[in-house]
Amino acid sequence: MIGIASDHGGFELKNALTEYLKKAGVQVEDYGCFSMEACDYPEYAYILCDAVLSGECEKGILICGTGIGMSMAANRMSGIRAALCGDVFSAQATRQHNDANVLCLGARVTGEGLACMIAETFLKTEFSGEKRHVGRIRKIDAEYR
Ligand code: RB5
Repeated sequence: MIGIASDHGGFELKNALTEYLKKAGVQVEDYGCFSMEACDYPEYAYILCDAVLSGECEKGILICGTGIGMSMAANRMSGIRAALCGDVFSAQATRQHNDANVLCLGARVTGEGLACMIAETFLKTEFSGEKRHVGRIRKIDAEYR
């Protein structure tokens, strides 16, 4: 299952992307927000990331206006590797090289069509598993520094 969450800035894109992914046969769980009312993106980032870390969701998608606030909050959580992507190449590369488990999108930056392609690419691309990438990911961990 894939988890998705947004703040008010990403609400409309979250709904559109959820519909798109469901039509493509992806099982999607919506973790909010559930209206256009202004809310705080870190709250939804943490709810979604908890679901990824617990194994409830295999991967997550976070959307705010820029995608930046969501990625900052998500990357504070140990075990989360959140990638803010505005293009398909980055979505593919971050799965192959970084084993990213959360995709962040900026609804005020990236149009709906491109966002759907980015999400689809992110979800279908496997981590390469190459030793050099495994080693580099380990070095992201706090214990390394
Ligand atoms: C909300 O106005 C906006 O600040 C938020 O969606 C996001 O872009 C923050 O990084």
